[in-house]
Amino acid sequence: MLPYSKLPSPDPPPKKSKFPELDPKSSLNGLIYPTLSLQSPRSWLLLVILLLQVIFVLVLRSVSMSFSTSHVAPQQSHPEISASVPRVSDQCELGKIYVYDLPKALNEDLLQNCHELNPWGSRCDMLLNDGFGRQASALNGVVPENLLPAWHWTDQFVLEIIFHRRILNHRCRTLEPESAAAFYIPFYVGLAVGKYLWSDSSAKARDMHCDMMLKWVQDQPYWNRSDGWDHFTAMGRITWDFRRSKDEDWGSSCIYKKAMRNITRLLIERNPWDYFDVGVPYPTGFHPRSASDVTQWQDYVRSRNRSSLYCFAGATRMVKNDFRSMLLSHCKNESGSCRVVDCEGTRCMNGTSAILETFLDSVFCLQPRGDSFTRRSIFDCMVAGSIPVFFWKRSAYFQYAWFLPDEPGSYSVFIDRNEVRNGTKSIKAVLESYSQEEVKRMRDKVIDYIPKFIYAKSREGLGTIKDAFDVAIDGVLRRIKEQQELGFKW
Ligand SMILES: *[C@@H]1O[C@H](CO)[C@@H](O)[C@H](O)[C@H]1NC(C)=O
Ligand SMILES: *[C@@H]1O[C@H](CO)[C@@H](O)[C@H](O)[C@H]1NC(C)=O
Ligand SMILES: *[C@@H]1O[C@H](CO)[C@@H](O)[C@H](O)[C@H]1NC(C)=O
Ligand SMILES: *[C@@H]1O[C@H](CO)[C@@H](O)[C@H](O)[C@H]1NC(C)=O
Ligand SMILES: *[C@@H]1O[C@H](CO)[C@@H](O)[C@H](O)[C@H]1NC(C)=O
Ligand SMILES: *[C@@H]1O[C@H](CO)[C@@H](O)[C@H](O)[C@H]1NC(C)=O
Repeated sequence: MLPYSKLPSPDPPPKKSKFPELDPKSSLNGLIYPTLSLQSPRSWLLLVILLLQVIFVLVLRSVSMSFSTSHVAPQQSHPEISASVPRVSDQCELGKIYVYDLPKALNEDLLQNCHELNPWGSRCDMLLNDGFGRQASALNGVVPENLLPAWHWTDQFVLEIIFHRRILNHRCRTLEPESAAAFYIPFYVGLAVGKYLWSDSSAKARDMHCDMMLKWVQDQPYWNRSDGWDHFTAMGRITWDFRRSKDEDWGSSCIYKKAMRNITRLLIERNPWDYFDVGVPYPTGFHPRSASDVTQWQDYVRSRNRSSLYCFAGATRMVKNDFRSMLLSHCKNESGSCRVVDCEGTRCMNGTSAILETFLDSVFCLQPRGDSFTRRSIFDCMVAGSIPVFFWKRSAYFQYAWFLPDEPGSYSVFIDRNEVRNGTKSIKAVLESYSQEEVKRMRDKVIDYIPKFIYAKSREGLGTIKDAFDVAIDGVLRRIKEQQELGFKW
């Protein structure tokens, strides 16, 4: 169970007074006493039915509370205890979402032309199965048999597709823009820029789709309501791919465009100093179909016997003093306690069962920075119930505040990379210094948080469990609501 405590978030604390916690007893008394006289059998029947409902509501409430942030919980308890309101989900107390119907050139056409999404060849297979990619049949024997259909070889850059599909089915989606609190822009900006990133293309070509989107959205009647503050979008690559300041530099300059200024962007890596960048988990290969898939997987990873103390999965780069190369040779040298998956070249590109197996068998996993500060492997590791070891604080602590525990030490280990480099600190010695109880506590924390960093397979989500998509949408709606109360000002 997650603690019923505040999750880290850059937001101001929720204004509790707006969502007073109702006392279940007093509101039920109000319901019961006017109508009941305990003399008649009919009243007894009614009382029994009411009591059953109360029990049901309390059970529901404890289930949903164990997977929700404290921001959400007090508000959720509100509709649940009022017998006249049928379901929590009909409330949308954080507001409704309108999904723009963008010109097809900005999303659907990009999928249609998937064979040209990157310069090396077709990546159409990454778009199969609603963007989750091919079924990971090679994981047969590695994951429990009945969970195999929940595993795919998912590309790390498909966030835009996942969010679009889910938001179209969101319980708080509205078709009437005038009733919306937030506007979602289903733009596949990462897919659009992907094919230009490694080719010799002009700055104009790399910004073309973004310019087109911004022009279109500013022509919409609801744009002017808040100068973009109530608009949000997903950008399925790291923020640095969209922050080109000079024409000859890397990437697109989409985020630097004037009209992007106030739009909230969900990114797999954020710029920690930009309020409008929100870090969301990288997609991993696990896409549970139901809440029971999630709990079964949690039980599975919790019960693993982990034969290696730690592991490292990754490729090295041909740069001097590359920290990853150092970890790789360190790990090979410590073969008694460290396990290596060498992803040299394209070996891990299409997915390999060796990575998941290694994480499942290791107590800790080393997570140095990749080409940028974050890497998908952080989430691959935690999904397998392995405890991440970080060497850069920006790899996770300043990135995924809505999705990870408040206290870094409660679920991860931080080691100063300079002390490793100059030999004053041994990774092995640090990891061996944790007692079995401490390890178990950290692992349990990681496993408890798994729902928050996976993307469900079902279009409607997982019901009682909030996945990464749900957490992200609730977070954005809450921010927009708070901003609106403040008048959308800096
Ligand atoms: C929004 O405001 C800008 C600047 O005030 C104006 O040029 C534009 O026409 C407005 N757009 C709409 C759709 O009202
Ligand atoms: C962003 O919001 C601020 C504050 O509300 C406003 O002054 C500014 O004009 C907005 N920027 C754009 C590009 O709309
Ligand atoms: C883990 O090891 C223990 C003791 O060696 C054994 O009893 C247990 O069945 C093993 N569990 C799994 C899931 O293999
Ligand atoms: C490998 O381990 C040996 C013995 O533990 C040690 O002397 C040596 O310096 C290590 N080499 C590297 C590259 O870590
Ligand atoms: C990855 O899969 C595609 C087809 O799905 C295949 O053409 C390609 O050769 C594979 N690449 C590697 C490195 O295995
Ligand atoms: C090693 O690096 C740490 C951290 O930068 C530093 O405090 C320490 O003095 C260094 N030790 C040596 C022997 O260079």
